Amino acid sequence: MEMVKLTIDGQLVEVPKGTTVLEAARLTGIEIPSLCYMKDVNHPASCRVCVVEVGPRLIASCTLVAEEGMNVKTNTPKVREARKMSVELLLSNHKRECTSCLRSENCELQTVSKDLGIRELSYEGDKTEAVCDDSSWSIVRDPEKCILCGRCISTCSDIQTVHAIGWAGRGFETRVAPAFDRSLGDSVCINCGQCIMNCPVGALHERENVQDVWDALNDPDKFVIIQTAPAIRVAIGEEFGMPIGTSSTGKMVAAMRKLGFYKVFDTDFAADLTIMEEGTEFLGRLKTGENLPIMTSCCPGWIKFVEQFYPEMIDNLSTCKSPHEMEGALIKAYYRDKFGLDPEKIVVVSVMPCTAKKFSVKREMMNVNGIEDVDIVLTTRELARLIKEAGIDYMNLKDEDFDNPFGESTGAAVIFGATGGVAEAAVRTVLDIVTGKDLQDVDLTQLRGTEGIKEASLTLPDGTVLNVAIANGLGNARKVLDAQKSGEKNYHFIEVMACPGGCVTGGGQPIIDAKQQEKCDVRAMRAKAAYGEDAGKAIRKSHQNPYITKIYEEYLGEPNGHKSHELLHTHYVKRSKF
Ligand code: FES
Repeated sequence: MEMVKLTIDGQLVEVPKGTTVLEAARLTGIEIPSLCYMKDVNHPASCRVCVVEVGPRLIASCTLVAEEGMNVKTNTPKVREARKMSVELLLSNHKRECTSCLRSENCELQTVSKDLGIRELSYEGDKTEAVCDDSSWSIVRDPEKCILCGRCISTCSDIQTVHAIGWAGRGFETRVAPAFDRSLGDSVCINCGQCIMNCPVGALHERENVQDVWDALNDPDKFVIIQTAPAIRVAIGEEFGMPIGTSSTGKMVAAMRKLGFYKVFDTDFAADLTIMEEGTEFLGRLKTGENLPIMTSCCPGWIKFVEQFYPEMIDNLSTCKSPHEMEGALIKAYYRDKFGLDPEKIVVVSVMPCTAKKFSVKREMMNVNGIEDVDIVLTTRELARLIKEAGIDYMNLKDEDFDNPFGESTGAAVIFGATGGVAEAAVRTVLDIVTGKDLQDVDLTQLRGTEGIKEASLTLPDGTVLNVAIANGLGNARKVLDAQKSGEKNYHFIEVMACPGGCVTGGGQPIIDAKQQEKCDVRAMRAKAAYGEDAGKAIRKSHQNPYITKIYEEYLGEPNGHKSHELLHTHYVKRSKF
């Protein structure tokens, strides 16, 4: 590897050719502040917070490539003054309601202002006046807080290839907006919330439903039942100061019980159910050869992506509802009957790592006979806010277990939150069914890892080779679908999670700022916690969950049977592109 030598603050530094000065400094332990820059996502050099002195010039270090013999100064009066001025100008046009902003204490503009010692503003002038866009079921956009860094645009366009938002206007009128200044709810946005995850300030956040949950809990007539997705337990602890990738399942359950929920269920139960339904559907399609490859359907952002951009492949999607919808439907049918509850009085709250699920529960087809499967969706962040508002001391809670009958799950269900997890869970069950054996090595490590696209081939006893593709991030999903469509690839099973890394880093999860993300692999750390939970489970295959066996015997009949289709399956619609 070709190396270059340069001097940073008098220190001789050697870095690979092509390294930027910002990266070189950080590799050396010299801190340069940054704001618009986000590694592997956004490098527009627009905020000028990262300027350094090179000879007589001040240059943005995030795009300045290190050169042999370069002499860089990162901490001179001229540099400090320039950085302060840039941030003060940003603050002068920022809706500064920091004490009540959702991103307070987790705002990169706030951090950089504090770090630069900004105490008062020298500039007063016109302020952007714009209406807060709350037209989406999932995402709220407040342009008055936007600092025009462009991270959301890069995320939506380059990573997700959705292009729901872009630049509009010129000069002071420059703004981020959907095409033709439509509202977000009227755009091609697929509701994944990855723009929220990469926004450095409070300009983007989820549509909050915390008060709706309080209202339900405070209504003595309601039975408010909560369920949590697999990825919540490996991330929520971070909201209370736990290290990234710490699993805190027992504390999470205890906190929800303290909040007053009638029952605390685990969506993992329905993840096991999904494997029964989707696995059966897959084996059926393999027999007939119809609608292959089967494409997973747990992720609502991905579903909307297919409906909008690949409508010709809608029939390839599994008809299984997302696991929390399945569980919601069962709570409002099976559980209601079993315990004699009035369906009108049941409120199902799902805690999801995902903002798109706030949208998907509103889809017309997510109900049974007019009764919505799920009433309210909270993100992981919102559940943490609920716990904080209630004054619960999360860190000192004693572990508690979920309630049954929807509280028991297998290791296969726990890994649904990581990219490759659904495929691995499905393969564990499908292989057992087709071989008639109890597969001993359930750690299918070839399906694990955070690469954008993974492939694997499995040979069945009759010699059939199954080609599996796993994609995370919709830009990668697009590549997989295009390869399938062109005939370059011949997959039988495609797993897609819209969010890079899968649900563990979904749009509703705790937000990790850009600098911290540079220092650690959040996706891998949270996934590791999920695989750790899996390894610790006594049962690791969905079809061996005794509660799953029982619900088929007692109520559903058989996988893909009449009752299952009524409650657990759905259909999709073509959506027009704007
Ligand atoms: Fe370098 Fe914004 S210009 S961080």
